[in-house]
Amino acid sequence: MPTVLRLNKQWIAALVIITLILVSSFFFSGRQAQPPAIPLPIVEIESYWPSPVERAVCKPKIYVYEASKDFQVPESVQDGRCDESNYNSEIILHRQLTDPNSNINKLYVTKNPEEATFFYIPFFGSCYLYNCWSKNEWKWTERCDVDELYVDPMMNMVINEYPYWNKTQGRTHIMVHPMDQTFTYYKHNELFQPAVFLKTVGDKRRKWMHRHRYHRDIVIPSATRLIHHLRYNPEDYVTTEGHPKTGTRTIFALFQGCCTTVGPEDEYSNGIRSLFHKTFAKYPGYEIGDVITDLEYADKLAHAKYGLSPMGWTLDTTRIWEFMAFGVVPVVIADGIIEPFEFDVDWDSFVVRVRRDEVHRLDEILRGIDDKTYEYKRRKLWEYGRRVGLEMDAWHFIVRELCRIQGINQPENLQLGY
Ligand SMILES: *[C@@H]1O[C@H](CO)[C@@H](O)[C@H](O)[C@H]1NC(C)=O
Repeated sequence: MPTVLRLNKQWIAALVIITLILVSSFFFSGRQAQPPAIPLPIVEIESYWPSPVERAVCKPKIYVYEASKDFQVPESVQDGRCDESNYNSEIILHRQLTDPNSNINKLYVTKNPEEATFFYIPFFGSCYLYNCWSKNEWKWTERCDVDELYVDPMMNMVINEYPYWNKTQGRTHIMVHPMDQTFTYYKHNELFQPAVFLKTVGDKRRKWMHRHRYHRDIVIPSATRLIHHLRYNPEDYVTTEGHPKTGTRTIFALFQGCCTTVGPEDEYSNGIRSLFHKTFAKYPGYEIGDVITDLEYADKLAHAKYGLSPMGWTLDTTRIWEFMAFGVVPVVIADGIIEPFEFDVDWDSFVVRVRRDEVHRLDEILRGIDDKTYEYKRRKLWEYGRRVGLEMDAWHFIVRELCRIQGINQPENLQLGY
């Protein structure tokens, strides 16, 4: 009995000491004592950004001109040669408008130009030139009389055969310029300058200011060979939650692209890609190399955590749209880029940005992202980011921008259900 009593006394003494330590740590280390921060309450939707895409800024009616077969790029060329092109957004967006079975057609298109707010010019200049180049040994300076045979008759129809262009001096008209040099390929571009341009390259640098018309240009997603030409369906590779159907995302960072010979001083990619091919390619978890087969690439996309999106000749990269469609968190390395629909899409919630002067620290930066932050970005990408693609909600986002450019604020619910 006395032993037990003595033990009890020892236990009590120990307890007192432990309590003293705890109490003193409470007083001396403020941090430990603080309760954890709790997430802020949800606010009313009007005070929140970005808005759900179905809450439209306005719901305009769009009239689509029909171009005469005499000068329009033949359908056989549109469906043939141009289908493989990354510049195919002009045709994809046009098809979405004109296909009577598409929701875009049902929501926005009118056959009556009198009631239209906007007018779509079916200008497929990139297809015209892409086809021209393909027949001229890819000589990029070749034009195949695009101004005389295509720009002039198209704009003649729009300006002279209908009264709508003159009503607003062209400001309600929209056309797509999906190539690097946008409208500057055409000598007669002054004919269509008043229109709103949809373009895939957005660049804030001084160098290309003459290619971006502030508040007159809308940056849109670009087409990709894998998704829009070969019609790979990410759902064949990833689950509805965006996880790979087999295995896990074991590739830490993926980049398959040009050019293994690029040097740090080169203009191409501002030298960024030299660090990829010469340095990071050797790091564990990095899959970096030249272009590979589509089948191989799709499989890698499904198994990659981060997708490296460095600038090339221009700031945008087509591969970002493949990353996003497959749930790969993009690492954007393109200082000065204007991403599509920045007024409606919170890019920073689902991409990682690394500036050029920090690319040498790429591995340190990416490894420093904790699991919760990665998962937050991955979810935002899967639930919102990937919806921006051409094959998904691009038109809804374009329309939001059009409403703003025209100063129309007439909110309407599109009833998209998400
Ligand atoms: C629109 O204005 C131009 C320039 O003034 C003119 O040449 C053209 O005929 C006008 N179009 C129509 C349909 O009246």
